[in-house]
Amino acid sequence: MWLFLVALVGLWTLLCFFRERQVVSYLQDKYVFITGCDSGFGNLLARQLDRRGMRVLAACLTEKGAEELRNKTSDRLETVILDVTKTESIVTATQWVKERVGNRGKVHSYLAFGPPPGRR
Ligand SMILES: *[C@@H]1O[C@H](CO)[C@@H](O)[C@H](O)[C@H]1NC(C)=O
Repeated sequence: MWLFLVALVGLWTLLCFFRERQVVSYLQDKYVFITGCDSGFGNLLARQLDRRGMRVLAACLTEKGAEELRNKTSDRLETVILDVTKTESIVTATQWVKERVGNRGKVHSYLAFGPPPGRR
């Protein structure tokens, strides 16, 4: 169920992301929200996009994973703890993203990626 939802959101945002990228060349102004950043593809993607100058909002399952990621990336990258199996955690993380992106009034991308915790 969650895997399906995350995959769907990921696919949709990915399409928007690439469509927007053709128009907006300044990646520095772009926010990208990535889930599953503790390890695997989410982790790789977060580091890649950070290196390219995007403002990465990385959701990790554990504080340890978040710290490791912050250690390997620039100051632009911000982390949040997210457990997609807990509604409360999703609400908190959504609010966190809105706070970061909402008050800057630019065009933004959201990219949800990575399998939910416990399924890797
Ligand atoms: C991150 O870097 C700090 C400071 O260099 C270090 O103390 C800490 O152990 C590192 N954390 C991880 C998880 O690598």
